[in-house]
Amino acid sequence: MKGIVFTEFLEMVEQEFGLEVVDKIITASQLPSEGIYTSVGTYDFFEMQNLLGNLSAETGIPINDLIYAYGLYFFQALTKHHRDIFNLYTSPIAMLASIENHIHVQVRKIYPGAELPTFKVLNQQEDFLEMMYFSERSMYMFAKALMEKTFEHYHENSKIEMEMIREDGSQVRFKIYKQPHAVNHQN
Ligand code: HEM
Repeated sequence: MKGIVFTEFLEMVEQEFGLEVVDKIITASQLPSEGIYTSVGTYDFFEMQNLLGNLSAETGIPINDLIYAYGLYFFQALTKHHRDIFNLYTSPIAMLASIENHIHVQVRKIYPGAELPTFKVLNQQEDFLEMMYFSERSMYMFAKALMEKTFEHYHENSKIEMEMIREDGSQVRFKIYKQPHAVNHQN
């Protein structure tokens, strides 16, 4: 897992829960990196699992909710550092359908050693996208958050349904609907 994922994560924890909680979870996690991450470095995924587990224990918030919140936060970093990629697309469905064959392909060049999920597009329509998510890291709530944020980025509304194909979350079917804008009846 790339260092940027850790540095952004710890930044979110500091912002939401304070520096004391950052120190606490780093100490409790017994990390080979000692909690010192550089954005170009690559670290073991189990460090993230430890940090999430200890943050969950500290705050009482379930791990999946923390991963979802983290996805919402991480999106800002993506649009900040990789606006050029977002500018290539004019619709959220086109963008999401291109993660596997274009976006994460670029990501592998920019971040050597990145551990990325696999997405398979099963059905793509103008306002509907069905994709299968595969990853041994089971970060499907991170995916859901990034998908919702992608719609927001293009000023569109979405409804996202998930179906666990494997119980451990390593294979999840996403049904992504572009929702119409609310009509404003003010006469
Ligand atoms: C400019 C756009 C994007 C960039 C630059 C980008 C980059 C990255 C990076 C650097 C990682 C971490 C890799 C690692 O830790 O080794 C990652 C992971 C991930 N990305 Fe993207 N990403 C982009 C868009 C998206 C979008 C729109 C989605 C929506 C589904 C997505 C889904 C994921 C997921 C789910 C992971 C977690 C790893 C896993 O599940 O195995 N990415 N991405």
